[in-house]
Amino acid sequence: MSNLEQTLSIIKPDAVERNLQDEIKKKFVENGFSIKDEKKIQISKNEAEEFYKVHQSKPFYGELCNYLSSGPIVVMILEKENAVIENRKLMGATDPSKAENGTLRKMYGISIDKNSVHGSDSLDNAKIEIEFFFKN
Ligand code: CDP
Ligand code: MG
Repeated sequence: MSNLEQTLSIIKPDAVERNLQDEIKKKFVENGFSIKDEKKIQISKNEAEEFYKVHQSKPFYGELCNYLSSGPIVVMILEKENAVIENRKLMGATDPSKAENGTLRKMYGISIDKNSVHGSDSLDNAKIEIEFFFKN
């Protein structure tokens, strides 16, 4: 049975800074994702705080928001069967040193904060996050 989904992916500042966006986009396409929309932007600290508000109470929240707003990012709508979970699998564990071989975070991540990619963690959040970046 078909379960075509869309999810939000972000190529984070550490990866854009190293000019890895084309290589990472190629990995998505090779893994069966279509990139339905994309844009390279830089967000403000306020926007980062809004985007990551679920992490408000975490000790790393301030740094996380500084970091996501520190440089250009590439935001993308990815589409595939079971896109949300498939993207999480391709990304690998949050901490690159714990991520499996072949995952994006293992290949490109520098550290738990500079882990190169974001991906929505549920279909509900995918909808919210896509709306956040692509509402006209
Ligand atoms: O991105 P993911 O969903 O895998 O992880 P998260 O738990 O939702 O955390 C969001 C982001 O916060 C991570 O991708 C990390 O960049 C950052 N983080 C951090 O800097 N230090 C931690 N101990 C945990 C997460
Ligand atoms: Mg998350």
